[in-house]
Amino acid sequence: MPPPSTSALGVRPADFRFRCIGCGDLTDSASRDFRCMKCTDLLEITYHCWKETKPDAETLKAMWRNRRLSSSPVDLSGVWRFRELLPSLDDARLVVTLREGNTPLYELSHCARITGVPRLFAKHQGLNPTGSFKDCGMTVAATFARRAGFRWVACASTGNTSASMAAYAARGGMRSLVLVPEGKISWSKLSQALDYGAVTCQLRTDFDGCLRLLQELVQRAPVYQLNSINPFRLEGQKTIALELLEQLDWHPPDHIIVPGGNLGNSSAIGKALLEMRDIGLISRLPRLSVIQAEGANALVRTLREAHGQRLISVQAETRATAIRIGSPASWKKAAHVLDATGGACEQVSELEIAQAKAEIGVEGIGCEPASAVTLAGLKKLVKQKVVKPDESVVLILTGNLLKDPDYTIEFHRGELFKSSAEESARAALESLRRAPVVLDATLDAVMRTLEQAEKS
Ligand code: F0G
Repeated sequence: MPPPSTSALGVRPADFRFRCIGCGDLTDSASRDFRCMKCTDLLEITYHCWKETKPDAETLKAMWRNRRLSSSPVDLSGVWRFRELLPSLDDARLVVTLREGNTPLYELSHCARITGVPRLFAKHQGLNPTGSFKDCGMTVAATFARRAGFRWVACASTGNTSASMAAYAARGGMRSLVLVPEGKISWSKLSQALDYGAVTCQLRTDFDGCLRLLQELVQRAPVYQLNSINPFRLEGQKTIALELLEQLDWHPPDHIIVPGGNLGNSSAIGKALLEMRDIGLISRLPRLSVIQAEGANALVRTLREAHGQRLISVQAETRATAIRIGSPASWKKAAHVLDATGGACEQVSELEIAQAKAEIGVEGIGCEPASAVTLAGLKKLVKQKVVKPDESVVLILTGNLLKDPDYTIEFHRGELFKSSAEESARAALESLRRAPVVLDATLDAVMRTLEQAEKS
């Protein structure tokens, strides 16, 4: 039996409420689809108790640091360690955890030279238990699914959410249903969901179609929805920012850059920054910027063409499958945090993504294509002087290099960009390519290869 938690659990369930981001309506419980029953906008979690007794910043910092010495599962989780800022529980045994979070913050010296930004870091969320940042949100949402007594949980996914949900459902003794677009997600992600026991449906539609169907399903069947529309997911993902700031000794970086798909993660990180500022954990806000693929640029267009007043949906197309999303559910929340922190929203091309991914690989870290938009976007923001060379920047690498091996192999074999229009672009990537060579099994052949590599 694991030893009991070293310290009391934080906020009582009665101390948080759901608030509609549209009409502001406050409720103690949420509908099945996590939409406002009055105006159908999304819900967020608020902590009204903080109005009367604000948590004390210095006490929190010391408590969170001390928990690192504990061996109880809730303290070993890089999410529940920060439970005072989460919708916590009164019984630690209910927590479904795989020891998520606790991800490293790396200096990126090679990418720093390329971008001309010496203080450049990456927080690698791809090193979570199932290979993506989703685990940070899933531990909280799965815990609340179990607490509410659900037998089934479900999600629509471009890959990472499905693997994460299936793992946490399995750990929590629940069944899981995965809806993924047929042929549009990586085998490595699908194989995780299968091994963790999910019932997996490959639907002949895109991610947006899967999500629409899920929303209808939860109205008809007793199934708990675990997409990032579920505000418990976002509460868990807030800890990505909390842990980052703790790693920086609570000195905020100037910029944090995240990829944008369904826009839950940017919303969560932004919410965390605003709460940290309000509580006094940090004295100023970093600017939070969101980067999308050109072919899946709904937020970019929404902000540029509709000034954030209405969503401009797009027919999404990109090889960065994780962010192949045309109608991001959390666009309003993301637009709000970009505005509140003074961040930017940019788009990058397929070629820029591939190049950035290989450059992050050169650091010995690697990431999946969707995560590489952050470095590609940073290059653009530096050119636009939105990011200045003397400022500090943190890229949130959201997923693991092993997610999309086909993409990586095609890149190194020079097969990723096939059309002749991309000929000149292909040349730019040449120096980063390391195609595997097939040789006779002789010492000579290997020695020759080594000599050639030394010269190149
Ligand atoms: N990066 C990775 C690796 C992702 O898997 C996702 C989303 C994102 C970025 C975008 O985050 O949606 O919060 O803006 N993946 C989803 C999935 C949607 O189903 O796994 P977002």
